[in-house]
Order: sequence, then structure tokens, then C-alpha cells
Amino acid sequence: MTGADPLVVVWMGVADPGPGLSVLATRCGASVAHLQLGEPSLRRELDRLADAGERRVVLVGVSFGAAPGNSWLRRVAAHWWRERTDPPEVVVATGLLDHEHDEVAPLLARARPIVGTEAGLASSAWEDVPRHRQQVFVCRGPRCTARGADESAAVLGRALAAAGLGDDDVLVTQTGCQFPCNHAPVATVQPDDVWYGGVDAAAARAIVHEHVVGGSPVAGHRLVRDPGGAGR
Ligand code: FES
Repeated sequence: MTGADPLVVVWMGVADPGPGLSVLATRCGASVAHLQLGEPSLRRELDRLADAGERRVVLVGVSFGAAPGNSWLRRVAAHWWRERTDPPEVVVATGLLDHEHDEVAPLLARARPIVGTEAGLASSAWEDVPRHRQQVFVCRGPRCTARGADESAAVLGRALAAAGLGDDDVLVTQTGCQFPCNHAPVATVQPDDVWYGGVDAAAARAIVHEHVVGGSPVAGHRLVRDPGGAGR
């Protein structure tokens, strides 16, 4: 381990990590930060530790599902390190904690410090606004995830791929809570302004085949939306 150096476990995914992340952090004596959705962000947590006078901070990413690779943890940490005046040393584990690697010590044994030459946040590959014609927002908030939104999202992605549709055609984006949680799992198709509830695996396939490919929203799962609140 790292002696008195503060350890931060960084949740890499979009979906709510549930209580497992806090349990893991407590077991490791670590604080928690989030690379994407969730508070505190990694930037905020690094600021907090630096403001407290810490001179060495250790980061290890955690992923129990779909999430960016560990290189993104280094990119984001390096971006903060370059922008911060007199930053502490930031050391990043070279692997992620996941279902197969749930011990911190072996990962920290291979940790490497940020040196400032790491890749930045921008790339020419990420300049253009994508040209997709539809975007499917799959809710990965706590209630939708508890009702199987992870499987729905995976099935949706596979069905789109099987239909020959890539990101330039239909962009799938996982989100936090979209609010009509009683209908979880929830997904929306934009710009069609179509909201779906009860999006299990079968419904996810139907959304691809009937709506995205066939052009007709799936009536059995469609939620009524009331723009402007006239029905409230
Ligand atoms: S958690 Fe999905 S709509 Fe609230």
C-alpha cells in the first residue's frame, strides 16, 4: 500500500455504482470520485486533496461494467495536473479494479506517476458533431439499472449492430435518471420525442426493429408525454 498517501477510488462508469463502491472504498481506506456522472468529480476530489496540502495522491479506477479504459483516468488526471498550480504528485494504478481484480495492492504495485506528457482531452477525431439521425438515451439511473437497464442497453447495442447500424446512424447514450422511474427501465428516442417504459430485452429488440428500422414506435411500451404540462 502507500502509507499515508490518500487513495482515491474512481468510478469509471456512467451507471450508478450502488453501495458496492462505498463498501470498496471503506475497505481500502479510500475516498471516492467519479470520472463521469456522480459527485464528487475526480477534478473536485483532486482539488480538495490539494487544497488540504496533500503532496501525493494515488488513484485507482473501478469498473464493474461498460466504462472507458484506464487510459482515460490518466488523461483526466493529467489534465488536472497540468492546470493546477504546484500540484501534488498524482500516481495512477495501471489497471482497473473489476470483478476479476478486486485487490488494490497488486494494482498499486504497478502504479505510475503523472508526468505531464500524457495525451490531452482533445483530439482531431472528436472535432465534428456526429451525423447520426437518431439518438437513443438509455436510462442507467438507480431504479432503471436495478430493473435490468444494463441488459437492455447491451441488447439494444447488439440489435443495432446486427441491423448494420453504427454510431453514425443511431447513437446510443446512457444517462442518469430521466424521471419517470415508475416505468423503469426507461429509454427515449430523439429527435422523435418518443419515450419508452418497461424496456426489457424484448422491448429493446422491438425498439430497434419496429421503431429505428421500421419507423413505427413500439405502442406497447410507449409512454405518454405531456409537453408544457397541460395535463397536470
Ligand atoms: S432511474 Fe431511470 S427514469 Fe429514474
